[in-house]
Amino acid sequence: MKLTYYGHACFSVELSGKHLLFDPFITPNELAKNIKLSEIKADYIFISHGHFDHIADCTEIARSTGAKVVSTWEICQWLGNQNLTDSHPMNTGGQWRFPEFSVKCTAAQHSSVLPDGTYGGNPVGFLILSDEGNFYYSGDTALTMDMQLIPRWAVLKAAILPVGDNFTMGYEDACLAAKMLECNKIIGVHFDTFGFIKIDHEKAVSHFSEAGIELILPAIGQSVHL
Ligand code: NI
Ligand code: MN
Repeated sequence: MKLTYYGHACFSVELSGKHLLFDPFITPNELAKNIKLSEIKADYIFISHGHFDHIADCTEIARSTGAKVVSTWEICQWLGNQNLTDSHPMNTGGQWRFPEFSVKCTAAQHSSVLPDGTYGGNPVGFLILSDEGNFYYSGDTALTMDMQLIPRWAVLKAAILPVGDNFTMGYEDACLAAKMLECNKIIGVHFDTFGFIKIDHEKAVSHFSEAGIELILPAIGQSVHL
């Protein structure tokens, strides 16, 4: 599995020849100006919640790639109202088997409203289970005790967690999350994009390494093997 980071909380994972894209927010992100939407491949697009910084480019990429959108019932309804009907609605706690992988919708402690004010349902995270390995993307969330459930369901190769603080957990809580997840490889996301979430990279990485956990803060455009 190969992960490519597109800035903020947007990344894709290549798995069994398919491209799974998460939370596309590229064109409004000044830091991601070198990423071209037209070059992003997607067979599936996962939307963790309705906030603009997670859904901004969803419709355009879904239309240009023909990708299926996987999200909450409410967000899929909202996309359907824009004539984007190839979606798969889910809700917290549910699991579904796609041909190449399974996805389990996990609890996230956050909020979720769409850019036009429509209610987006519960914010969620995604646990992806596949023959090539398993990974967990928490979505925007606080540190929650629910994360202790994840190792009961899957051994993780990696977890993708927000580390920017203010709107989500910061890197110290993300390090506690890694321990609950029993996962030693963390990809940090949701940092540096806005003033409120700028972090000290060296401090964050050393905080994790003191706990024996690898924290990767990828550069935009960088790929990481999971
Ligand atoms: Ni959010
Ligand atoms: Mn966010």
